[in-house]
Amino acid sequence: MDRNLPEKVVVKTSVKTGAVLWIAGASSGIGAAVAREWVRRGGRVALSARRANRLDALVRELGGTARAISVACDVTRDGDCERAVAEIISRWGCLDLAFANAGFGVSAEFDQLSIDDYRRQFETNVYGALRVARGAFPELKRSQGLFAVTSSVLGHVSLPGGSPYAMSKFAVRAFAEALRVEWQRHGVGVTLISPGFVASEIRQVDNEGRHHPDARDPVPEWLVVPVEAAAREIADAFEARESERIVTRHGKVLVLLNRLFPGLVRRFILPRFATPPGQKGWTRKR
Ligand SMILES: NC(=O)c1ccc[n+]([C@@H]2O[C@H](COP(=O)([O-])OP(=O)(O)OC[C@H]3O[C@@H](n4cnc5c(N)ncnc54)[C@H](OP(=O)(O)O)[C@@H]3O)[C@@H](O)[C@H]2O)c1
Repeated sequence: MDRNLPEKVVVKTSVKTGAVLWIAGASSGIGAAVAREWVRRGGRVALSARRANRLDALVRELGGTARAISVACDVTRDGDCERAVAEIISRWGCLDLAFANAGFGVSAEFDQLSIDDYRRQFETNVYGALRVARGAFPELKRSQGLFAVTSSVLGHVSLPGGSPYAMSKFAVRAFAEALRVEWQRHGVGVTLISPGFVASEIRQVDNEGRHHPDARDPVPEWLVVPVEAAAREIADAFEARESERIVTRHGKVLVLLNRLFPGLVRRFILPRFATPPGQKGWTRKR
């Protein structure tokens, strides 16, 4: 028997009412929708991102500081996550869940990208998730809580023209799978969230991380799932302390097909999603 294992490993099966959820990447899209859903279910949320005006507006929308607080945090900066957790503890005294959700996409074919493009992608999507985990772990141990992190269906299936993003999301999945076993003996759960196409601002952000609010979503509308539906699925996964939730039906189908018939997926599906030169990724060829 492993001597490090406590005699009885506590595995919570649900999240108590009023549970404090810290969301890193809460100013728009999936993070903001999960915040709304969590408060609707009776929980409390601490919202982090760089756009403080968005977070403050969301706090007001959620009824003020009894239910929601805004906590400044840029996940690419060392020390921000520790400071954010300290602020949450000084305000509410506990942290039950931490959701490392901050991310954006760098996409183009390999020969059009620099090493710095890959580095920038990893700094937010991978090292950002690491910083959230590092900042939250001491408190999650105390609360026997849950660490959740957003990967993607593209953390299972790598699309041509999107290697930086897919690499970052494969890395996040590997991180979560290792942590899940490591943190079992501390009673901390790990949930991997792997969405397919969900309505958000992600496809309005360019390779440098700049927002283009007028940019058209290149993904066909019928394939994009409303963010509220995704948020409900994600909150369900948190409450059940699931190991992984693949969000969206098309996402589940693609991951399964890729597992069972990788050759067919490579030959018939992936080429249809190749990014035309000079265009932002995840575009179907027209
Ligand atoms: N929507 C999809 O189709 C889809 C599919 C698969 C996976 N995902 C993943 O889902 C997660 C959420 O994305 P989304 O789709 O909801 O896009 P989004 O609307 O663009 O939201 C991204 C969030 O990440 C935050 N963020 C980015 N860089 C940050 C940084 N350095 N520090 C702190 N926060 C940062 C943004 O806030 P600020 O800009 O204010 O900092 C924003 O709140 C991402 O990890 C994304 O990769 C999305």
